[in-house]
Amino acid sequence: MGRPNQVKPARTGTSRREFFKRSGAGTVALAAATQLLPQVAAAAVNSVFQHGVASGDPLTDRVILWTRVTPPSAKSAVSVSYVVATDAALAQVVQRGSSKTNPGRDYTVKIDATGLRPGTTYYYQFSAEGATSPVGRTKTIPAGSTQSLRMAVVSCSNHAYGYFNAYARIAERADLDLVMHLGDYLYEYGNGQYGTARATEPTHEIVSLTDYRMRHAQYKRDADSQAMHRQHPMVAIWDDHEIANDSYKTGAQNHQPATEGDWAARVAAGLQAYYEWMPVRPVDTTNLRKNNRFYAYGDLADLIMLEERISARSQQLTAATHATPFGAGFATTDPGYADAGRSPLGSEQEDWLTSRLRSTPARWKMLGQGVMFAQLKAPGANQTTDPGLYFINSDQWDGYEPARNRIYAAIKGDNAHPAVDNVVVLTGDIHSSWAADLNPNPYNPVTAAGGYNKTTGEGSLAVEFVGTSVSSPGVDSDTTGQIAGALRFYNPHFKYINLTRRGYMLLDVNPQRVVSEWWYVDTVASPSNIQTFAVAFEVQHGSNHLVPSAQTPSRANPPLLAP
Ligand SMILES: [Fe+2]
Repeated sequence: MGRPNQVKPARTGTSRREFFKRSGAGTVALAAATQLLPQVAAAAVNSVFQHGVASGDPLTDRVILWTRVTPPSAKSAVSVSYVVATDAALAQVVQRGSSKTNPGRDYTVKIDATGLRPGTTYYYQFSAEGATSPVGRTKTIPAGSTQSLRMAVVSCSNHAYGYFNAYARIAERADLDLVMHLGDYLYEYGNGQYGTARATEPTHEIVSLTDYRMRHAQYKRDADSQAMHRQHPMVAIWDDHEIANDSYKTGAQNHQPATEGDWAARVAAGLQAYYEWMPVRPVDTTNLRKNNRFYAYGDLADLIMLEERISARSQQLTAATHATPFGAGFATTDPGYADAGRSPLGSEQEDWLTSRLRSTPARWKMLGQGVMFAQLKAPGANQTTDPGLYFINSDQWDGYEPARNRIYAAIKGDNAHPAVDNVVVLTGDIHSSWAADLNPNPYNPVTAAGGYNKTTGEGSLAVEFVGTSVSSPGVDSDTTGQIAGALRFYNPHFKYINLTRRGYMLLDVNPQRVVSEWWYVDTVASPSNIQTFAVAFEVQHGSNHLVPSAQTPSRANPPLLAP
């Protein structure tokens, strides 16, 4: 891996090593014609509301409503009014209000619409400068007894790498309660450094507040992104690329202080733009890096969202002592590996998570988080001289094993605390699809010794669903599934691995089971409306391990989509 060189031409092809190390430099060669394709046109040209509308962070009585105003000429202040109704025609108005925006917040508008009813669909619209916005549709989360949650889970939406066809398909689904975005909502790279399907704005890597705002604005002008945001509320966390690749509390792989300045200043700039441009509610206005929070989705599920990058994460390990087909691998005996002080979460967030897992009355405990929790090992490159198995990505939880074991210990329970059943980990980050049973040592087949039985699932303490990217590249060369098959051979806890497809996960939750469906688009090289159901796995109440499942039916009579 390594920071893309600004003067080097874009490379073609993504090596396996680059993928697993999450390099920012790889790129898939796209037909030159692709670059000539126009962006999908917005439904209507609306210069004042050219960035669309969005909603997010729904609670039982409130939801964030978002837009951005583009006045015809610069103004020190712009008045914006809004209306919230229970019908798509905006006839049954339940709330009206007004707000002001200004250049100090990049003309973005964020309303925390309160006084709403639980589990209810609403429609909303903004007005300013003599224009009206598109009508948005949103939904509060339910309270009390709850029988169903249906949501899309996305990550790694890279504008430069291709079209957000997955977003467009999600926008068409009228029966979703929300969209969960697990991070890499945008990418920081300059033009041609990580994807060449669409030019970046600005053309250089984003570092300053002006840069981050401009990149957010470009993403929010995307027609497919606008369509998704217009129809569904979003619950989002950031991963690393919202600021810079492979970030941690005090720096990032893709941050060079000598040329890009102070890391803390860059984080502050990136976060200011993030909070301006995303439909999210700050957890702590005095510490914007803090972003862990939970959503009690009635008594059915807790959506426990984690912050794993800039609030506390220790720097990734760099020691690499064993060659594997995926690059330098790590052994548990490497320096730093056993350091209990290293964590992606930090002790405060770890304690908060443990406490919520133990105390929530919800049936399902769903962790929305950034990097793969399940172990991932590869064999030594020369099995004759080095027959071991090694971790291959120090940015995942594999690089923080003592911290991961503390989470496992909380799930497993002890003399003072009962075991926590029904934990479902939801993950993005690695541009590929995985379903895993979770065990502290799945390579040990002796369940009596705390190991894992890959045939029965015995020993599994929880499950993980990893969703593929909206557009960022995976190991696209694995068209035969040979690499995926080899990884499953060495890692018995994975029930499904696909390294080549783009799309999203559809999560269907009821008190009896959680089903994850993987849906794939046919291409990101051009706008396309083709999607395919690939596979589904589920975990049944109390079982804590995966079994094959099937496509779930759509809900009957969902609320009308916004016009
Ligand atoms: Fe990503």
